Amino acid sequence: MSAHGTPIPMTARASGPLTGVAEVPGDKSISHRALILGALSVGETHVTGLLEGQDVLDTAEAMRAFGAEVTRVGTGEWRVHGVGVGGFAEPQQVIDCGNSGTGVRLIMGAMATTPISATFTGDASLNSRPMGRITDPLALFGTQAVGRAGGRLPMTLVGAESPVPVRYTLPMPSAQVKSAVLLAGLNAPGDTVVIEPEATRDHTERMLRGFGAQVAVEDTDAGRVITLTGQPELTGQRVAVPRDPSSAAFPVCAALIVPGSEITVPGVSRNPTRDGLFVTLLEMGADITFENPREEGGEPVADLRVRYSPDLHGVETPVERAASMIDEFPVLSVVAACAKGTTVMRGVKELRVKESDRIDAMARGLEACGVRLEEEDDVFTVHGMAQVPGGATTHSRLDHRIAMSFLVLGLVSKSPISVDDGGPIATSFPTFEGLMDGLGAIISRDPA
Ligand code: S3P
Repeated sequence: MSAHGTPIPMTARASGPLTGVAEVPGDKSISHRALILGALSVGETHVTGLLEGQDVLDTAEAMRAFGAEVTRVGTGEWRVHGVGVGGFAEPQQVIDCGNSGTGVRLIMGAMATTPISATFTGDASLNSRPMGRITDPLALFGTQAVGRAGGRLPMTLVGAESPVPVRYTLPMPSAQVKSAVLLAGLNAPGDTVVIEPEATRDHTERMLRGFGAQVAVEDTDAGRVITLTGQPELTGQRVAVPRDPSSAAFPVCAALIVPGSEITVPGVSRNPTRDGLFVTLLEMGADITFENPREEGGEPVADLRVRYSPDLHGVETPVERAASMIDEFPVLSVVAACAKGTTVMRGVKELRVKESDRIDAMARGLEACGVRLEEEDDVFTVHGMAQVPGGATTHSRLDHRIAMSFLVLGLVSKSPISVDDGGPIATSFPTFEGLMDGLGAIISRDPA
């Protein structure tokens, strides 16, 4: 939903050891996809572990508007009765995707090759984000789009009457763009091919196969070549959503920097296309072990055991790793501020078009907390220090991950750190405050 309530100012203070079990919510990327593919299938899809954050709830509402039956049957347990590939009905109302770039971009792809029109909008953050990266490839199928200047929402899409299959090379590493093209390809005859020079999260490919589509993936010199055979019959499935590594990142990073901590985070996805933060933290000297590795819902998962790591040191993260940790750079920059030496993060310019310009948001907030850093278009450098002074109010800019990152930093800074609005946390991690409190973190809502 676009309507944001009153800002929720929050403050984090130096905390004792974090201990216990952190059961983070279901994966956001997989949750969106489960609802969308369920809506495009024939028969019933039964989802467990669905993230019930606002982003995903907005996608559920959108799927209802396109004609699917979407019902919550218990905590994280949902049923979807789909309308089949090409079966979307024309929505009677504007589709409001709230804060969610993934929601709007995947849904645009899913409707783009059905001859209906739909108008999309979102909150101030989403309405400022670029949609040309989606509408350009969708135009190749025959989809028309009219939005605001610069390809921004609100925007109306008119689905292609006689879609043609497409061959498209991603101009930027983006799983959202890749997924939009693949979902549009579902209702085009013949093969739709997406070439991604750098691998991005592959949940769409995995789940499309699980629902019965034919998807071939080939690793070539030009990158990953993904070929989808159009017009399959998708059939409803059971989807067990693993826990979100991007949400796990917050308690994990907090436990690494708060002295004496030891926590377990069970059942976290270890999909290699999402694993870059953990690879980087291990290089920095983090004490993380991956226990009980197994497969759940078609995804590799493990239980993470994380201990306070006093000897963290700065590292350089390579360009080719950026896509596998794209949502984790804000909280990595917090760990970097607490590590010995300098951390250089390369290939980060996509962060500038997330829920906020995340490099600018982290840079300004870290500087306000007394951290030294350098910011270039595609490189972010943070100099670690023995103890971050803190004592500042940072701005979350309608961005959940910025808010949570500064609250993690406030657990170890000399003076408390506030965020002006913790409200956006509910988009991806509605249980964040209770979970962190259960571990022993001192995070409170400030009086208005
Ligand atoms: C996502 C892809 C990424 C990521 C976002 C979720 C997805 O965005 O930042 O949080 O579920 O496909 P981009 O595709 O824009 O990199």
